[in-house]
Amino acid sequence: MSHSSLGTALITGASSGIGAVYADRLARRGHDLVLVARDGARLHALASRLMAETGRQVDVMTADLGNAAQRARVEQRLRDDARLTLLVNNAGIGSPAKLLEADVEQMTHLIELNVTALTRLTYAAVPGLVARGGGAVINISSIVSITPELLNGVYGGSKAFVTAFSQSLHHELAARGLRVQAVLPGATATEFWARSGLAVEHLPKEWVMSAEALVDAALVGFDRGELITVPPLQEEAPLLAYEAARQAMAGKLSSNTPAARYASA
Ligand SMILES: NC(=O)c1ccc[n+]([C@@H]2O[C@H](COP(=O)([O-])OP(=O)(O)OC[C@H]3O[C@@H](n4cnc5c(N)ncnc54)[C@H](OP(=O)(O)O)[C@@H]3O)[C@@H](O)[C@H]2O)c1
Repeated sequence: MSHSSLGTALITGASSGIGAVYADRLARRGHDLVLVARDGARLHALASRLMAETGRQVDVMTADLGNAAQRARVEQRLRDDARLTLLVNNAGIGSPAKLLEADVEQMTHLIELNVTALTRLTYAAVPGLVARGGGAVINISSIVSITPELLNGVYGGSKAFVTAFSQSLHHELAARGLRVQAVLPGATATEFWARSGLAVEHLPKEWVMSAEALVDAALVGFDRGELITVPPLQEEAPLLAYEAARQAMAGKLSSNTPAARYASA
């Protein structure tokens, strides 16, 4: 089996849902893969199928990314693998609970996976990618990064971090050959909902996209060089206006004088 000229993509949360579809699509595009999640049996089954169907090399790393020691092995692989060209930060958990009903220990665990693990894996991968002349990071954020009122606020906040971190990475390193994309799925039919304690079947059908449709659309956005990709948003105009408003404020957000509207009476 020859190594892929597209290099290796490491995908977190590849044992189910969106991550498993990325594994399928990226192997078919010609990437070799490293699949990461906790459920080794599922990862090995997916790896065997993809190796048989695509002829690509698919490695498995069983790791709980919420556990610092287990995560360190994945960080080491990202630092050491000179064939790495793409990191897909997809592993994540959610919650629909409001603050008064939510357990702060669970919220801390959510931040550890959605924010800390994503940050540490990015820091492990990016210096090598840049040193080798470039590569890509795809971060799976969420529409709740724009609308944190929809689900749990810590989940929304964690995804706002993912979108903002992606914007900053693009700003800092696009000129050094790093491609960055934040993907903002809406409701997607995966185990995410059952794991979060909500049955996806209770959502209106018109809201819920398949993981396959989500990933295929996101890859169209990736190929177009988009920084922010929101597959379910039918009209692009509000997203462009949102970004234009943000850019219009940039450069005006720091001043030695408070705005006139804050003058005391
Ligand atoms: N589904 C939606 O409606 C939706 C909408 C917007 C954004 N998203 C985002 O999409 C991403 C993927 O979720 P999904 O919808 O595909 O849900 P999913 O089917 O539940 O997949 C989550 C993946 O993350 C892995 N994972 C969970 N905890 C982990 C841990 N501690 N360490 C390592 N891996 C872990 C799971 O595998 P193991 O259990 O084997 O570890 C699984 O492979 C998440 O970041 C989620 O926030 C989902």
